[in-house]
Amino acid sequence: MTTPRKKKSVKIRAGILTCSDKGSQGKRKDTAGHVIKKILRKELRAEIVKYEILPDEKVLISKKLQEWCDEENLCLIITTGGTGIAARDNTPEATMPVLHFEIPGISEMLRLEGYKKTPFAVLSRAVCGIRGKTLIINLPGSEKAVTESLEVLLPIIPHALELLAGKTGHK
Ligand code: MTE
Repeated sequence: MTTPRKKKSVKIRAGILTCSDKGSQGKRKDTAGHVIKKILRKELRAEIVKYEILPDEKVLISKKLQEWCDEENLCLIITTGGTGIAARDNTPEATMPVLHFEIPGISEMLRLEGYKKTPFAVLSRAVCGIRGKTLIINLPGSEKAVTESLEVLLPIIPHALELLAGKTGHK
């Protein structure tokens, strides 16, 4: 999995937000969050400026996303966990009100490609979109799901961030 970046491409300031009741209580190791960190650093040479684990509380997640977009000048936020249909899966509901607009194609692609790996991929309600100049992407919570999802996302992220940064030339 290699995504060569041009020398002059946007420097990626990224945040990773893990949404997990158990993770936030120290009852489960955040392997998915760490995998995202590793892949973003290695493949996109991203700087991980923010990393936190929050419980599956809609208000807390929305507040954190808003803060990271508006005050921390991040260009990319990836959340992991809480996208499914269980009672405490709240990440899409927390993300939607924060977005200025959705990019449905990205989440559709993640479900489509995920379905090739497991039919359960359609159980993820993950959303993706833009707030200001920040691209926010929900991913499911397992290490396997984030690894598979990033594999299809990596070729898209640099151009998306260039467009957000005002570099509007066509590829
Ligand atoms: N997508 C991919 N690519 N690979 C996976 O293993 N797991 C699915 C799905 N998306 C999976 C995937 C499963 S089992 C569930 S329940 C949903 O994501 C929601 O996961 P979440 O509640 O951890 O967010």
